[in-house]
Amino acid sequence: MKFTVISIFPEMVEDVLSYGVIGKAIKKGLIELETINPRSFSIDKHSRVDDRPFGGGAGMVMMFDPLAKTVDHLKKQDKNLKLSFLSPHGKILNQKKINKLAQQRHMVLLCGRYEGIDQRFLDKYVDNEISLGDFVISGGELAAAALIDAVARQIPKVLGDDESAKTDSFMQDSLTAPQYTRSDKLKQVGVPEVLLSGNHAKIAEWRTMQALKATQLKRPDLLQDKE
Ligand SMILES: C[S@@+](CC[C@H](N)C(=O)[O-])C[C@H]1O[C@@H](n2cnc3c(N)ncnc32)[C@H](O)[C@@H]1O
Repeated sequence: MKFTVISIFPEMVEDVLSYGVIGKAIKKGLIELETINPRSFSIDKHSRVDDRPFGGGAGMVMMFDPLAKTVDHLKKQDKNLKLSFLSPHGKILNQKKINKLAQQRHMVLLCGRYEGIDQRFLDKYVDNEISLGDFVISGGELAAAALIDAVARQIPKVLGDDESAKTDSFMQDSLTAPQYTRSDKLKQVGVPEVLLSGNHAKIAEWRTMQALKATQLKRPDLLQDKE
């Protein structure tokens, strides 16, 4: 799967995604990350991409032209591309949406900055808006990186063991069971006996019950959604 991120801070996205399993997946070519900076399409001598808003008010707004040229350029390579704008106005992401997004071939993500983006650009070019949650961050880069990380976890071979993603929280509308390391210092103190039993069926049953308990305690809304 390919991700293209449109951002005036492309290094920010590249850096965040260069660590751990996702960094390895990019190096191995299991997922592709392309970034493109709208400043390269600005005709301003200082490569500006923002301007003051009509009607006044605080802050600057990203201009139509550099962004339109960026997307037109990308459309020359993929004429059917769909543009997703990371925005607090969008529908809030959850695991079900992530799993669906993981079935796509190519995602193009637009990161806003400043007070946002000229509405005329959004009306003409954006296919959908995606939010990380009901709060405001300073730019779409962290939201894009979080989305890419979560989607990439669903791509086969990205995680060392494909089972990991299947047993993650939210995959079964529940959280996960508690985990205990085989730590030398603590030995087996405080470790539930069943985990030391070697009985895999019993361990699986215990984990299901513990996951249910954790969900009831911390996120009862997930169980209500299931009914
Ligand atoms: C400072 S914010 C602009 C917020 C805008 N003034 C508002 O209140 O709706 C700049 C950019 O950060 C990104 N952003 C902020 N909050 C976000 C969220 N909850 N989810 C996804 N992206 C977000 C968007 O790309 C946005 O254009």
